Amino acid sequence: MYKNNTKNCKFIEAELGEYNYCDFLTEENAKKAKRFIETLEEYESTPLVSLDALASRFGVQKVYVKDESKRMGLNAFKGVGVLYGVARLICDRFDLDIEKIGFNDLMAPELNSKIQELVFIAATDGNHGKGLSWILSKLGCKCHIYMPKNSTEARVKAIENYGATVTVTDGNYDDTLRIVIEKAAENDWIHVQDQAWEGYTKVTNLISEGYTIIADEALGQMQEDGSEKPTHIILQAGAGSFAFGILGYFANVFKESKPYMVLAEPENADCYYQSVTNGEYTVVTGELETIMAGLSVGEANFVAWETLRTIVEGYASCSDSISARGMRILSSPIGDDTRIISGESGALGFGLLSMLCQSNDYEDIKNQMKIDENSVVLLISTEGDTDPKVYEDVIWNGGYGTEI
Ligand SMILES: Cc1ncc(COP(=O)(O)O)c(C=O)c1O
Repeated sequence: MYKNNTKNCKFIEAELGEYNYCDFLTEENAKKAKRFIETLEEYESTPLVSLDALASRFGVQKVYVKDESKRMGLNAFKGVGVLYGVARLICDRFDLDIEKIGFNDLMAPELNSKIQELVFIAATDGNHGKGLSWILSKLGCKCHIYMPKNSTEARVKAIENYGATVTVTDGNYDDTLRIVIEKAAENDWIHVQDQAWEGYTKVTNLISEGYTIIADEALGQMQEDGSEKPTHIILQAGAGSFAFGILGYFANVFKESKPYMVLAEPENADCYYQSVTNGEYTVVTGELETIMAGLSVGEANFVAWETLRTIVEGYASCSDSISARGMRILSSPIGDDTRIISGESGALGFGLLSMLCQSNDYEDIKNQMKIDENSVVLLISTEGDTDPKVYEDVIWNGGYGTEI
């Protein structure tokens, strides 16, 4: 097993056996989900930015960054998954077929008055709660959101603005989730969570299925640009439900010729890295301290883990400075490249690529991953400046380290 501990990053490469393809993260299901989401007026594909000047500086063929800050006015990708998850739950409850309805059908007065009787709850470190409260405010449903201690005011406000009741707890994300599980059971509220555990997988799988829309859009956009497929995909992970949707899709579409896949996590919340290192599912505990609020999760989605560990080769446990570097480079492009506003959790995958291509300390890992002049690298910037204060601190003040 290849391992490399270098400056600001620990890397391990898993030995993959037979791929465990996930039967619902398919191109067909992505198209089905997309057909429904397209009926929402806010929906349009987010841009896939080809950073050509940067690619030549990095010595690779292509660097594609999908900019999810442009997703449905939410400044982050999460709304796609949660919208699809909620829509499917409502379909189940009222015996509707997602393939035959559009969003407006859920707003028809008779049905909508019944939908409005439903009360929802979730734990979040920000973006999931924002996506959920957004869709529930459109539908007219009540929503209770619980957030970990140290959640910034900007993130709390962003959710309250959609009419949700927000409670900040004394615990970390995983503690907050346990509180929500109890509250949901006590009050018979509908729990919509982007995290799975024994007995709770259905909704999370639907959310990951919703994320396949992003993968399907990205592949179509790359192909329009003349690239057949990515050779490498580097994604950031918290619980891993997002990576599950995206990488599960690419593994299903390309099977044995799938891209080389990498998961990047914050060093204090690196549950995938630890699980691969230990050869078994491992929970990370403690404060999970990191600027990457969306990735501050110590317990991997165990359904996602079962697939990801068979298709993802590389696992990187990264310091905050890697994400901060990614944010800064995306914010100040070279040549004719487009500027991308990418937040702390959005820029980690890109930050890691920049280290691989620019730091001598990373040369060996880069060679192991076979990143070279033929590489077509896909990254997803999953959020914009969802916390404007932190964003400014990083970009203007060099917050969280500048050394490489
Ligand atoms: C901006 C951003 N990127 C990535 C993630 C990671 O998603 P997941 O927890 O499904 O791995 C999150 C999760 O909240 C997020 O907010």
